[in-house]
Amino acid sequence: MCGIVGYTGTQNAAPVLLDGLTKLEYRGYDSCGLAVVHDGCIAISKVTGRIANLREKTEDGRLIPGVTGIGHTRWATHGAPTDVNAHPHASNDGKFAVVHNGIIENYMELREELLRKGYRFESETDTEVIVHLIEMYYAGDFRRAVMKASARLVGSYALGIVCTDAPDTVLVVREASPLILGVGVGENFFASDVTALVAHTRNAIYLEDGELAELTPDAIQVYDCSGHPITKKISRITWDIQAAEKGGYDHFMLKEIMEQPRAVEATITPRIRNGEIVLDDVNIDLDNVNKIVITACGSAYYAGCAGKYTIEKLCRIPVTTELASELRYADPLIDEHTLLIVLSQSGETADTIAAMKECQRRGAKALAIVNVVGSTIAKAADYTLYTWAGPEIAVATTKGYTTQLTVLYLFALYAAKALGTIDAKEYKRLLTILRSLPKQMQAALDMNPAIPELAKKYHGSPSMFFIGRNTDYAVALEGALKMKEISYIHAESYAAGELKHGTIALIYEGQPVIALCCNDTVTEKTMSNIVEVKARGAEVLAVAFKDNGKIVSLADDMIFVPKVDRLLCPVVEIVPLQLLAYHVAKENGCDIDKPKNLAKSVTVE
Ligand code: M6R
Repeated sequence: MCGIVGYTGTQNAAPVLLDGLTKLEYRGYDSCGLAVVHDGCIAISKVTGRIANLREKTEDGRLIPGVTGIGHTRWATHGAPTDVNAHPHASNDGKFAVVHNGIIENYMELREELLRKGYRFESETDTEVIVHLIEMYYAGDFRRAVMKASARLVGSYALGIVCTDAPDTVLVVREASPLILGVGVGENFFASDVTALVAHTRNAIYLEDGELAELTPDAIQVYDCSGHPITKKISRITWDIQAAEKGGYDHFMLKEIMEQPRAVEATITPRIRNGEIVLDDVNIDLDNVNKIVITACGSAYYAGCAGKYTIEKLCRIPVTTELASELRYADPLIDEHTLLIVLSQSGETADTIAAMKECQRRGAKALAIVNVVGSTIAKAADYTLYTWAGPEIAVATTKGYTTQLTVLYLFALYAAKALGTIDAKEYKRLLTILRSLPKQMQAALDMNPAIPELAKKYHGSPSMFFIGRNTDYAVALEGALKMKEISYIHAESYAAGELKHGTIALIYEGQPVIALCCNDTVTEKTMSNIVEVKARGAEVLAVAFKDNGKIVSLADDMIFVPKVDRLLCPVVEIVPLQLLAYHVAKENGCDIDKPKNLAKSVTVE
């Protein structure tokens, strides 16, 4: 979702901002713009569409000189994606320009107040009220005006602001939206995430909600919400710059699919010591827990759906999975005996943050499983386990999902041992399988060279069904989401046993049905469903172990998965489905890394 960047230093700001915005492209956007202070004025350039258009319009930034500036990629919420609605927005007197990530919930009343006072609005955005408020409160003190304006805002915002009266200063404010400062030498930066900073500096300051920072080329001063200066810790960014580049692959998504064995290895290895799972910093009183609620959005939610089976089976504690966007308003039955597990790759998903806060308010302790270090969820949770997947750039998550699921497996085994619900032999057996998962994922990548051919066969279908039971159903949910979000084919997942209760009416001659059959406790049952849909003309692509001759003879096409215990199989089983979605999307000529209408990190409700 929207990305913001800013720079103050000695270089021309516009090229730095354009490079930073390019690094944030993956977050998803539909228009972009920048503002640079120069010679007592602010020059603003905005376009609808890609950053390439902005580069062309500004001749790679050369047409906008000046050493202090802010930039923005916009994912439209209030008002269509047009040049006028794109950020930055300027004050009527031309003294200020603002970029904003987030949503101002009380913008309607502020807009009316400002209109009454004679301020002129150019755009339909919620953001524009901010810049007019700053102008209204300005009496010669830039920081004071920004603080006063921020105090009027309700909602989420990460703001970058420049002012002609302070030509080498950028002010930033954070409230429930990501914002990181990059500490340079003779120059300073800010951005929505570290990918836009690592080319310049590895020293970062993570702002907290309510904090304001003043950036000049030689200093960064942070203030708390009452305006008192505070000292912040400088953290080291450990992400490797190459990890955020394509490294010879056509798309980030393909690179990230291929990286999964390594990512899962990095998730597991540091957490196994002397044949035991060690989860540092997770000292949950498990005896006090009588239920576990897993909450998340999108694929992270589906990782929770798969992990639920393993936790419940091994720990014998009831586990429910809840969509964060629903849980936050559900008046949930949650108390101090509930352990909340929160899954989020970005750690910034607005609904997930809200659901977590609501459950914590009701007494639950929150265990976050997050990829982005220092993100909002990581910081607000009671316990955090990082997935260590490295930067994930493609909008469609792959290694984010599989590493989340891996951490759920680690937690399930760890908790079962702590609770005494697993015996030593079974613990050792499952731990051995867990350690072999990277190898099995690699095997799943290697044993399906026919997937590009299958994609050629299926890419023209208007719809696809994904069916399975139990853990296979959980994988079907994620398989279908991958297919729809990048190939734009209508793909739905169904619990195979539910077909007869309505959905089978949709089966037509040639309807592709992807049937997942890796859970040996229910494979026979799913096979009956395969027979039923085939009898009605469906074309079945089965996902199964190679030695399952019955399925091979039943299905029209096969995707193979190496044999893995059903409790840990989903993390391997999803890999060929990611590849299938990727190749189908490629056949359809889709923008795989940046699918239309989607954003990487959904920082607004
Ligand atoms: O960053 P998060 O894990 O909290 O994101 C949750 C979802 O927005 C995300 O998984 C989304 O569904 C992906 N586009 C799926 O590929």
